[in-house]
Amino acid sequence: AAIMKGKFDHFMQKEIYEQPESVVNTMRGRVNFDDYKVTLGGLRSYLHIMRRGRRIVFCACGTSYHSALATRAIFEELTEIPVSVELASDFLDRKTPIFRDDVCIFVSQSGETADTILALRYCLDRGALCIGVVNTVGSTISRETHCGVHINAGPEVGVASTKAYTSQYIALMLIAIQLSEDRISFTERRNAIIDGLRALPGQIKTVLALDTSLREFATGVLANSRSLLLMGRGYQHATCLEGALKIKEISYMHSEGILAGELKHGPLALIDENMPVIIIMTQDSLYPKVQSAFSQITARKAQPIVICNDGDDGIQQGAKTIRVPRTVDALQGLLNIIPLQLLSYHLAIKNGFDVDFPRNLAKSVTTE
Ligand code: G6P
Repeated sequence: AAIMKGKFDHFMQKEIYEQPESVVNTMRGRVNFDDYKVTLGGLRSYLHIMRRGRRIVFCACGTSYHSALATRAIFEELTEIPVSVELASDFLDRKTPIFRDDVCIFVSQSGETADTILALRYCLDRGALCIGVVNTVGSTISRETHCGVHINAGPEVGVASTKAYTSQYIALMLIAIQLSEDRISFTERRNAIIDGLRALPGQIKTVLALDTSLREFATGVLANSRSLLLMGRGYQHATCLEGALKIKEISYMHSEGILAGELKHGPLALIDENMPVIIIMTQDSLYPKVQSAFSQITARKAQPIVICNDGDDGIQQGAKTIRVPRTVDALQGLLNIIPLQLLSYHLAIKNGFDVDFPRNLAKSVTTE
């Protein structure tokens, strides 16, 4: 059946707005919110091998790579297995050593990205357990992996990936939770995340209601900007990279995601009163460190837009804010990315660009 835009102007906009439902589809039949249990049927007979793995290696490109980065910390925390996150092309360029006791996870919306497929075949040849986290059922990656999880986000048409990111993020969270279910000491932590997942669809709706104010940023303070830096750390580093990718892809504006911890090692030199900055300061254990990054850039006359939690009164008076609901630290990136998806959309629309089919880019890159 043809996929229709319905009341939306663009597929990307429709897909951003679908997220309260697409995240539910990713969790459907897999998360039991009453007994706090996660069951991923596709991994059932492989869990024991995964738990014995000496390393988890993620391989992906583009947005899919960012979803792996976003969930790396929770895999490390809940499984205590070393995790690396690889860009498929670089992974192959380096001829990375891979062994039989490695667990390799391939994240791909299309399941047809050439670089990721080649990385998969490389790992299969070396005897590693290969797992797919894919949206498209029947795709090459879905067929050639040993087992996997379909993210069930529904077809994504817009070249700039939006709902696939949030669904990949959730599918990966679920894998981390299920892998760690034999570890009693993490029960409370897992249950807190599962409670967070339950509240998520409603919170996403709250964030989508910020649309008008994001359009005002795009047509107001950021209207004539040639560049935009996005800063954050910890869980929010991936959010910054993914937000910057959205902005580059469809608005053709230079944008860079910066790890706030690296500020003093270079990027601080870019900061002056003319450099537009968005800083992510939602409340988690790294909040004081991000506050210090905020002070360092405002001392150099930057006037950052702050993504922060509702009700946070620790944000400097007069700062421009984008306020999102608070959730568990490990899930906060799911809410924080949405204002950046909307902002990139409005920056592109303002310039009259074709949001669904940006120049020079393809939805699925099937050549190396
Ligand atoms: C292309 C698309 C991106 C996507 C990337 C990986 O570059 O334009 O939106 O994130 O490929 O695609 P995949 O289908 O493997 O997730």
